[in-house]
Amino acid sequence: MLEHGGNLTLAAAQYNIPLADWLDLSTGINPNGYPLPEIPPAIWQRLPIEEDGLTEAACAFFGSRAAQPTAGSQAAIQILPRLRPACKVAMPSLMYKEHAYAWQCCGHQISTFTDLDDDILNSADVVLLCNPNNPTATRYPAADLLNLHQQLQNRGGWLVVDEAFMDATPENSIAQHTHLEGLFVLRSLGKFFGLAGARVGFLLASPQWLTKAQEILGPWSLSGPSRFIATQALTDFTWQQNTRLQLSANSMRLAALLSENGLAPKSGTALFQYVPLKEAQVRQQQLAKQGIWVRYFPEASALRFGLPTAEGWAKLEAALKAF
Ligand SMILES: Cc1ncc(COP(=O)(O)O)c(C=O)c1O
Repeated sequence: MLEHGGNLTLAAAQYNIPLADWLDLSTGINPNGYPLPEIPPAIWQRLPIEEDGLTEAACAFFGSRAAQPTAGSQAAIQILPRLRPACKVAMPSLMYKEHAYAWQCCGHQISTFTDLDDDILNSADVVLLCNPNNPTATRYPAADLLNLHQQLQNRGGWLVVDEAFMDATPENSIAQHTHLEGLFVLRSLGKFFGLAGARVGFLLASPQWLTKAQEILGPWSLSGPSRFIATQALTDFTWQQNTRLQLSANSMRLAALLSENGLAPKSGTALFQYVPLKEAQVRQQQLAKQGIWVRYFPEASALRFGLPTAEGWAKLEAALKAF
């Protein structure tokens, strides 16, 4: 099992602080997620209905022609390596780790890079990116990605783009191009919508690959209640608009607070700030002793801060001031 943010039970045991007393900033999940609607009993009692409008809502929201619902984008991450015989896959060295793990488990050969360059492009069959990247928040312009896809596709290669953190900036998405052969986009309702527990994600790709993915997934890839909530969230434009404004304001507030206290972020998205610094591990431990859990990346000596809840700001500020 790979390490993830949100592993608060471990932190609580390690630092001997009750679970309820923690401020969890270790994920990039919106702390003010989509308000949960009341779920009609029939949705719990019947098998999920796949013609309930979820796919149409997803396509309209993402701007894609087709979408396959998956139990979180994690399920899509695990399916993609099964759709190709063993090949060469290139991805950034610092990125959400489940991708490398899934491709490795299926016998593919992984190479990593810091910056996209020609050597990588000339040797890889599949290039895999997160846009924006987690945790570095690196952004790849859509035009560059489409160009990269074209180069790969000219020799039968694929471009896979994980857009789990794209909902706050949909203008940078390449979802509307996923009808093109060899272009795959993954989306998640766990981050911007704050519905990580509902396990809702989507694979966007050309029809032949979506059919193959569906064959692997089998029927009822999402539970009825998850489909119900997801359909509402994806069609609630007022909530989406307000949330984009609120997240961007809160993320700027977080960046300012960290900067004022000697932890200036190098980069960030609407949902997290990325802070490389020499004493990253010490800072993580100091914060943990005060009941604040942030994600530490030893390979980059960096911290990632998610957004605090409304009540969490004061606790974070006090802890930072104590350094
Ligand atoms: C970049 C990225 N992609 C995908 C996922 C998986 O998200 P989910 O399976 O909840 O959709 C995560 C979770 O942290 C992530 O950070």
